[in-house]
Amino acid sequence: MNLLEAKKEIEILIQTIQEYSYAYYQEDTSKVSDYEFDQLLLRLQDLEEKFPELRDPNSPTQRVGGTITKAFETVLHKYPMLSLGNTYSEAELLAFDTRVRKGLEDAPFEYFCEQKFDGVSISLIYEKGVLVRAITRGDGEKGDNVTENVKTIHTVPLRLKDGDVPEYFEVRGEIFLSRKVFDMLNREKEEMGEPLLSNPRNSASGTLKLQNSSIAAKRKLDIYCYYLLGENIPAKTHEECIQLLKKWGFPLSPTSQKCSHIAEVITYIHEWETKRHSLPLDTDGIVLKINNLEHQRLLGFTSKSPKWAISFKYKAQSITTLLENITYQVGRTGAITPVAELKPVSLAGTIVKRASLHNANEMQRLDIRIGDTVFVEKGGEIIPKITGVQLENRKQDSLPIQYITHCPECNTPLVRYETEANHYCPNREKCPPQILGRMEHFISRNAMNIENLGTETIRGLIDKHIIQYPSDLYKLTYEMLNGLEIQTVSDKKGGNNIRSLREKSAENIIHSIQKSKQEPFENVLFAIGIRYVGKTTAEKLATHFQNIDALMNASYQDLISAPEIGEKIAQSIQHFFQNPQNITFIHALKTAGLHFQIKEKESNSPSNILENKTFVISGTFKRWEREELQNIIKQNGGKLLSSISKKLDYLVVGENMGPAKLEKAKELNITMITEEEFLTLLSQ
Ligand code: IVH
Repeated sequence: MNLLEAKKEIEILIQTIQEYSYAYYQEDTSKVSDYEFDQLLLRLQDLEEKFPELRDPNSPTQRVGGTITKAFETVLHKYPMLSLGNTYSEAELLAFDTRVRKGLEDAPFEYFCEQKFDGVSISLIYEKGVLVRAITRGDGEKGDNVTENVKTIHTVPLRLKDGDVPEYFEVRGEIFLSRKVFDMLNREKEEMGEPLLSNPRNSASGTLKLQNSSIAAKRKLDIYCYYLLGENIPAKTHEECIQLLKKWGFPLSPTSQKCSHIAEVITYIHEWETKRHSLPLDTDGIVLKINNLEHQRLLGFTSKSPKWAISFKYKAQSITTLLENITYQVGRTGAITPVAELKPVSLAGTIVKRASLHNANEMQRLDIRIGDTVFVEKGGEIIPKITGVQLENRKQDSLPIQYITHCPECNTPLVRYETEANHYCPNREKCPPQILGRMEHFISRNAMNIENLGTETIRGLIDKHIIQYPSDLYKLTYEMLNGLEIQTVSDKKGGNNIRSLREKSAENIIHSIQKSKQEPFENVLFAIGIRYVGKTTAEKLATHFQNIDALMNASYQDLISAPEIGEKIAQSIQHFFQNPQNITFIHALKTAGLHFQIKEKESNSPSNILENKTFVISGTFKRWEREELQNIIKQNGGKLLSSISKKLDYLVVGENMGPAKLEKAKELNITMITEEEFLTLLSQ
């Protein structure tokens, strides 16, 4: 292939991929199979490698990231990024309306209302229809060049599909993390025993400043655009600008509305006060803008903000209550979390009794004392937050809180690591909540999946010194469990309720424990509870190292060369295996018969077991990247088809499969199998 031919093919590929991407991410429809899409992307990657001189910095291959930015360059904004004046009451809104009326000398005008998105503002700069820079707000005059990270956001157009656009323009918008993705990230963090992210906005902001853009690519950021700026914009109103943005392929929130007078604006505000909670992202108010661009020009700006726009902020729901006590929780990793015990109050529809105080620094910042009246707020976040202390109500004799120095559960002196805000109880072996926490993690669904074993039973077994390490579970016998007396905590008046384990329960527990020995290596690896090794990391490690011995013997270099393993995880893995107690623990689990090696057929041993069988794969998989699964099929004699047709034998179904594909497979009565069923097929 010569340069000219390559150039032509690259152009067609980019155009096609962009069209499919837009349909998928912004219109929620799939125009081609995932497989076909991947093939196009692979072909493009291949051509870009062979002809680096043709590599387009805005090629769709950039979405996966891969660049490292050591320090973000500071860039001057061509048009400063201003802030908005805030209002909190209808009276203030009416005063704004009067000011505008006066400024426009009573000419008729319209409003355009939008949500005030709570994310990170960004300026996207396009030249000749191509994204050239993405700059954060910074101080309004100059911001950071975060283009590489922004390019990984699937909904940000890299090259506009409509060729007829102004030579230069800027689009302002808000980058955000949806609540759904935020909750998912926090669930993963919880599983790993890591401190939770505080709110979606901070996480979005942190992600934009990541040095490694391939990590940013995984965080699933999104954007809503709300402002178009430039010299030759073919529009007379803000509404027309928004329509242009839509036509050019920019993502917009469907919640905006034109209003003909301030009374309509107020209706819009009331309507969204509750409805906003069902939006995919946090909002903290609405923005009203004067629609006509000539009117905007006439009204002009103050030094800080436009006189043609203002925000109305919803009050975060807040209330005061008494801080009755502070207790301290010990997590499975030994991390201590201080908890405010509050006099119960009703706030935004729920009764609030407790709020996390996060760590000693946060307590110091709030200067919070027992007996204080505190402000509790429920904003975007679900967990209530203490935002301050009503100092005028403070009792004269109240004393600052001395943070605990010893573990509230086992009395071991606490430690604090240099880089972390939390205190830790270092008594891993004997501290009861750490033992219990590890045990609960070990039996959880994504780990060894041991059913029928509740917290009370585990606690009973730990209290009676029958078990201490998760490996002790495999030494339990029916006789040890049958009739075992367990203390229940349901009696709140302090009375101790005792119940004894019945025959059937004992039988079920033993059965579940035995069954768990079938769990694959990646589950075992997750279950043993190496800090920072969550389920996804465990899967990556299992696929890469294949067995526990290879992982234990891996050098730091080996570890960080594995896919998606960074310094923090690598250090944690080494630290775990340096502890002789952990080695004994692994040995005990090996003796019990757990899988410490990836299953034979999952590894790359070729066969002809899938000969004459055809496959299409769709969605994402727990065990493999798509390419790995494609290779396994090929190595075992199977054939991959590019789309669903009558000739197809199996559709291997992962998560998030496109609805169109599902429909087609059903229509043609194709056999659909999960990845587990695929493994069974392979091992027959
Ligand atoms: S318009 C010249 N529209 O609010 C004013 N801003 O307080 C241009 N924001 O920095 C801003 N939603 O980050 C505008 N629908 C919206 C917005 C919005 C959120 C943010 C933006 C801006 C800040 C100003």
